[in-house]
Amino acid sequence: MTKQDARLDVAVLNKFAKAELLYEGKAKTVYKIEGEDNLLWLDYKDSLTAFNAQKKGSFENKGGVNREITSIIFRFLNRRGVKSHWVGDRDGNAMICEKLTMIPLEVVVRNSVAGSLAKKIGVAEGAEIKPPLVEFYYKNDKLEDPFISDDQALFLKCVEGQNDLNELKEKARVINQALIEFFSRLGVKLIDFKIEFGRNERSEIVLGDEITPDSCRLWDIKTGERLDKDRFRRDLGRVAESYQEVLGRIRAVWGG
Ligand SMILES: Nc1ncnc2c1ncn2[C@@H]1O[C@H](COP(=O)(O)OP(=O)(O)O)[C@@H](O)[C@H]1O
Ligand SMILES: [Mg+2]
Repeated sequence: MTKQDARLDVAVLNKFAKAELLYEGKAKTVYKIEGEDNLLWLDYKDSLTAFNAQKKGSFENKGGVNREITSIIFRFLNRRGVKSHWVGDRDGNAMICEKLTMIPLEVVVRNSVAGSLAKKIGVAEGAEIKPPLVEFYYKNDKLEDPFISDDQALFLKCVEGQNDLNELKEKARVINQALIEFFSRLGVKLIDFKIEFGRNERSEIVLGDEITPDSCRLWDIKTGERLDKDRFRRDLGRVAESYQEVLGRIRAVWGG
C-alpha cells in the first residue's frame, strides 16, 4: 500500500512544520502545526506504561511501530467507511491528524473475557462473549479511568445525550467487525480493544487516537500466545518482538 490513500498529497504533508507543544500524554505527544488550525501533529513515543502509569518501560522504535500499525488500520477502516482523524504520516513516528474535541470516554469492545472483566465477574480469560460487549470508561487519569454507566456519562456531560452514546456504541460495533476480519487474516484473535472518539469542526463524531498492541488484546489463533501490552503488564518477556511481529504480519497481509 502506498501513501496514495492519504487524505492529503505527500508533498503537502511534507511541508507541515511542528509548532507549539499542546499536550504530552503517556503514549503520544501532541503538537500544533504552523498555520493549520484544524490539524495536529502526533508523535508516538517509545515509552510504555501500564496500570495508569505506575509501571513504566520503553523499547526502541516502539513509537514508529505503533504509528505504522495505527496508520495501516485507519486506512483499512477508511476503506470500510469508518471515518478517522488520520490524515497522513510524517517521518518514522509522526502522524498528521484532524484536530478533534475529544469525548472523555474510553470505548471498550470485548469479544472474549480478559483482564479486568475476568476479575470483576469471575469468568476465565478467553471465554467467548456473544454478542460482543461495549463498555464506557470515564477518561480521567486521576480517577484511574473508571467504568461508568450510560446515565453517569450523561450526568458528567461526556456527550450531549443518549443518541450520542448510541452512536458511539454503533460505531464501536462496526469497527469491531472490521477489526476482527483485519486481525483474523493475520492469524490473530481480537480479544478486546479500546478506542477514543472526538468531534471534528463539522461536529461529526470521528474515530481518533490510536489502534495498537497498547490498546488491543491480540492472541495468536494457533498458540494462544499474547502479542500485546499484556506481555509488558504481566512481565511475559518478548515485548518489543511481539509488537514487531504484529506489524510484520500486518505488512505482509495489508501492505504498508
Ligand atoms: N485527533 C485528536 N485531536 C485531539 N486530541 C487527540 C486526538 N487524538 C488523540 N488525542 C488525544 O491526545 C492525547 C495524547 O494521547 P496519549 O498519549 O495516548 O494520552 P493518554 O496519556 O491520555 O493515554 C490523549 O488525550 C488523546 O485523547
Ligand atoms: Mg492513550
